[in-house]
Amino acid sequence: APLKSLVGLPDFQWSARQFMNASSYTYYRNGAAGEWSYRNNLEVFMRFKLRPRVLKDVTKIQDSIPTTILGHNFSAPFFIAPCARGGYAHPDGEVNFVKGAAAGDILYMASLYSSRSMDDITAAKGNSSQVLFQQVYLTENMTETQQLFRKIEAAGSKAIVLTVDGPGTGIRHRAARFGVGSANIDLNLLTWEKYHTLSNMTSLPIIPKGIQTVDDAREAVANGVKAIYLSNHGGRQLDGAPSSLEVALEIHQNEPDIFKQVEVYADGGVRYGSDVLKLLSLGVRAVGVGRPYMFSNIYGEEGVKRVTEMLKFELINDAANGGIGDLKKIGPEWVDWRALNGW
Ligand code: FNR
Repeated sequence: APLKSLVGLPDFQWSARQFMNASSYTYYRNGAAGEWSYRNNLEVFMRFKLRPRVLKDVTKIQDSIPTTILGHNFSAPFFIAPCARGGYAHPDGEVNFVKGAAAGDILYMASLYSSRSMDDITAAKGNSSQVLFQQVYLTENMTETQQLFRKIEAAGSKAIVLTVDGPGTGIRHRAARFGVGSANIDLNLLTWEKYHTLSNMTSLPIIPKGIQTVDDAREAVANGVKAIYLSNHGGRQLDGAPSSLEVALEIHQNEPDIFKQVEVYADGGVRYGSDVLKLLSLGVRAVGVGRPYMFSNIYGEEGVKRVTEMLKFELINDAANGGIGDLKKIGPEWVDWRALNGW
């Protein structure tokens, strides 16, 4: 379908479904096992109704959309989540994410399992001031880790995003039927003790990605992290894992100060402006978007740019329609959370 005929983020999936070969499409689309977590990521947003306010001054909403992530300025509180194998959708692969992120002035977190090399990704930066974060998986081999960290620092990345939700292999039946395996991460012994060892090996902040309980959020804060990243890996690792919205709510109900102590990012199933708003209302600072960007890459850089424009447009107008005059002041009272009880 022509790019200009697409009207929202889900459209990119339908378009990619026709365009990509079945095994590549399935690798992107796949969730773990029965895909309950995958579906729940999408459906959870619909379970909570909004509490829109009217006759509020929303004329300046646009000015409050930009934000900072670990001190770096961006035009929106959402970013491109780290996803492997961008080359399945486009020959230029992740280069399009770097350029598209620059054009939209948003953050891109590059995956360690990118189709393009770290050098290619660095070279694609239009100017040296573009901020990228680098996602990593680690093995027990500390020499390798040391080398990887040096390479990431040399590339100019501003943070290391350490994925911690996948010490085992994600059981992905859909893709397995095509013979496509999931990233087989070593059953590495990643404890908080090892986290400190890793932190001492680099000057960059290391952000744990894949926090799924208030207990681990608490432990992360106690261990001095600068940020935590709530995620169930797009429902691709452990089926039955909660959505980030539920985890954010659990933190809000049990340890709300965490949102003030560290920056909290969240991803999974974000497809509409109102999804972003619901996460922000609990104190989440920035929201990651995975598959929509992956699918948009069938259109190359233009597709990536379009997703950013669409989501920004929805964010601004959903906020305005909900009576939010300042995105920085959105609070949990903007959403009716009662649906959580009796679930
Ligand atoms: C991912 N994700 C992921 N996460 C990570 O830390 N490292 C990785 O290499 C990958 N690779 C990857 C590939 C593909 C095809 C997908 C769809 C996802 C997870 C990703 O960062 C993010 O958590 C989810 O994609 C968010 O959910 P949505 O937006 O895809 O629903």
